[in-house]
Amino acid sequence: MADSEDITNLALRRNFFYPAAEIYSNAPSGFWEFGPSGEAMRRKLVEFWRKEFVQKEGFAEIFGSQILPEAVFKASGHLQNFNDPIAQCKKCKSLHRADQLIAEKISEIVPESLSIEELSKLIKKHEVQCPKCKGKDFTETKKFNMMMKVEIGATGESTCYLRPETCQSIFLDFARLYKTGRQQELPFGIAQAGNSFRNEISPRNTLLRAREFGQMEVEIFFNPSNANEFEKFKEVESTELPIMLSEKAGVQKITAKQACEKKIIGSRMIAYYLAKWQLFWEKIGIPKEKMRFRKLADDEKAFYAAEAFDFEVLTSLGWVELTACNNRTDYDLKGHEKESRKDLKVKEEGGKEAIIPHVFELSNGIDRSLWALLDLAFRKEKRGPEERIYLDLNPRIAPVFAGVFPLVKKDGLLEKALEVFEELESFGFDAEFDEKGSIGKRYARIDEIGCPFAITIDYDTLKDNTVTLRDRNSLGQKRIKAEKLPELLWKLQAGKLDFAGVGEK
Ligand code: GLY
Repeated sequence: MADSEDITNLALRRNFFYPAAEIYSNAPSGFWEFGPSGEAMRRKLVEFWRKEFVQKEGFAEIFGSQILPEAVFKASGHLQNFNDPIAQCKKCKSLHRADQLIAEKISEIVPESLSIEELSKLIKKHEVQCPKCKGKDFTETKKFNMMMKVEIGATGESTCYLRPETCQSIFLDFARLYKTGRQQELPFGIAQAGNSFRNEISPRNTLLRAREFGQMEVEIFFNPSNANEFEKFKEVESTELPIMLSEKAGVQKITAKQACEKKIIGSRMIAYYLAKWQLFWEKIGIPKEKMRFRKLADDEKAFYAAEAFDFEVLTSLGWVELTACNNRTDYDLKGHEKESRKDLKVKEEGGKEAIIPHVFELSNGIDRSLWALLDLAFRKEKRGPEERIYLDLNPRIAPVFAGVFPLVKKDGLLEKALEVFEELESFGFDAEFDEKGSIGKRYARIDEIGCPFAITIDYDTLKDNTVTLRDRNSLGQKRIKAEKLPELLWKLQAGKLDFAGVGEK
């Protein structure tokens, strides 16, 4: 298992991610850049989500503005409610999230719903210390709004905010897309991948708590009166979901059908999407025993949620939330209808009256998912005197799919390797050519970015047009006819074949 230092070191060494504006010492923390390896992996994760989840479920995808007017957040409740409780150390003046200070001291989750007075009392009761200077004297806890304000126009006449969640544009666009789209029936899903911004008091654990972060969200608009009559539910009714109702009860494996019958999940429609979400992550390679849906207690839910599950995975830092799965009811559309004074009700084909649909969302943090996938894939192994580090990433999301290497540059091997590389590129594979340094160093580099395969061109290639195909995990090598590579690699990429099943020549 990795520790979080391993991931940070690897991320910096291999250009997965690094601090934004790192050459300036006064750059604020909590902003990250994605280098070539991180950007490629991030893009592939979003692409796979788009194919598997958005396209297969027939959702519409939008790309909304990151800056929205104040009225949007008045309607959404963020101006009023999107606050973190902060306490200031009287000695060193550093600011901290009050709930986190307490949670760290007592090693328990502190409910979001506690009042600022209750938090102040708990800080005193548990004699919480300042993480910076160990002081024990804090100011009374205050509310701090986490949205980032932007003044638009030369005189700043329009107060706007960077969106704190991508889904607000989805709510704003819903009526237009529903009324002008091909399909006028519910459920109706709208998806979006983009960035959101939160003015975190204590950004930490690199991508896990950042101030700018990617989200891929789907918002499913549905009619609550028939959410249990959901045809597609049959596909997943026997899928076992790992659900945790409380710390004490632990994770129970329960079929989607039983979860609905026992009213653990509010409707078949919601159960269907939870099951599909789990299956999506299984395809990306997260082991079943490292996933869970944690049902949030009333005092833990976000202010807009009536029913909420956090989809979490087990990492070296413990369970980490990747996705908020919220039943937001008609909270958002009603709020926008009232504030904008526009009619946001829609009618279903054949329906009697127009309604404000309810919304179920799967709101995923892209960057924290990337971090968790790196953490789960990290392997360090001893091979004789040498230590080897590699990432056991699923070929679907590995930054590079295959390295193409001439054993040496002379005797026509470089030219032959370029020929193989160009052939693979013409088939659309995302291969990387590298002729520099020893072959051992080239293998080590691609192992560390999780590239599953290497293709090496050697003297035998010139004789019989075969290449070696090297497998990252087992280090096995097989000789393959070069002309068979495209089909073989396609099967390996699509998961229709694994390396053990590859025949030689
Ligand atoms: N849209 C829900 C969230 O950002 O947590």
